Amino acid sequence: MKRAFLVVVAVAAILGLSALVTDAAPTYIGAEKCKMCHKVQYDSWAQTKHAKATESAKASKEWKFEAACLTCHATNKDEAMAGVQCEACHGAGSDYKTLSVMKDVAKAKAAGLVIPTQATCDGCHDGKEHHKKQAFTREVHAHKAPAK
Ligand code: HEC
Ligand code: HEC
Ligand code: HEC
Ligand code: HEC
Repeated sequence: MKRAFLVVVAVAAILGLSALVTDAAPTYIGAEKCKMCHKVQYDSWAQTKHAKATESAKASKEWKFEAACLTCHATNKDEAMAGVQCEACHGAGSDYKTLSVMKDVAKAKAAGLVIPTQATCDGCHDGKEHHKKQAFTREVHAHKAPAK
């Protein structure tokens, strides 16, 4: 009786663990990693206000504390990821960053790549307080490839 119970517990633990491993949310890798393969986009993004969003919030007299501002003025609500980086619009990259996945857009999307839409912008440009609405545009950075 006791032994059967232990087996059930052990099996549940293994199943539980493997579920955790396969379901783990992708994590942020940082713009420097995307730069290796997307230099055109990176170099132009680095000149934008998005890239400097953490600095500018901190320099503001409205600065309160991190959580109040960094939800929108950083990539992962975290100063370690300063600026509205690539992954704030394109999704956390740990699972799609490899060449074999990236080459295949369908695979990349399944691994968390986001092709931004108006809804992506609205996540931060919600139209409240100073968070002005911005109409969707591709021209938030330069592109290597023309629009599809
Ligand atoms: C190992 C190289 C490599 C890395 C690292 C990489 N990419 Fe890519 N990415 C590619 C390739 C190759 C393509 C497909 C051809 C192209 O669009 O340049 C691609 C395509 C894309 C696309 C366009 C998908 C489409 O067809 O509409 C986006 C968006 C993108 N990558 C974003 C990112 C972001 C954000 C990062 C960092 C988190 C990143 N990539 C890291 C190589 C890479
Ligand atoms: C809900 C998301 C959100 C939050 C939270 C937020 N901001 Fe912003 N902030 C934005 C957006 C979006 C813009 C850009 C608006 C635009 O399109 O011009 C912006 C712009 C700014 C600017 C630049 C304004 C200018 O005139 O150039 C400053 C400074 C700023 N925010 C400071 C802060 C500070 C400080 C906090 C915390 C107290 C904060 N923000 C919280 C979304 C947010
Ligand atoms: C403010 C949101 C935003 C940020 C930040 C951002 N992107 Fe984009 N990105 C877009 C939009 C919008 C498109 C156009 C999607 C479309 O064509 O419909 C795009 C398209 C792309 C594409 C595919 C088209 C092409 O050839 O350029 C790549 C690759 C890409 N981004 C990489 C990056 C990388 C790398 C970074 C960081 C250095 C980055 N993006 C930062 C919004 C963003
Ligand atoms: C993660 C939050 C976030 C997302 C997603 C986001 N933005 Fe922003 N955006 C900001 C913040 C914060 C600023 C203000 C940066 C600053 O000046 O400190 C800003 C600034 C801008 C500005 C500059 C406004 C000015 O005063 O010059 C434009 C344009 C803009 N965003 C367009 C877009 C578009 C278009 C999208 C969607 C493709 C988008 N943003 C997605 C947070 C975001």
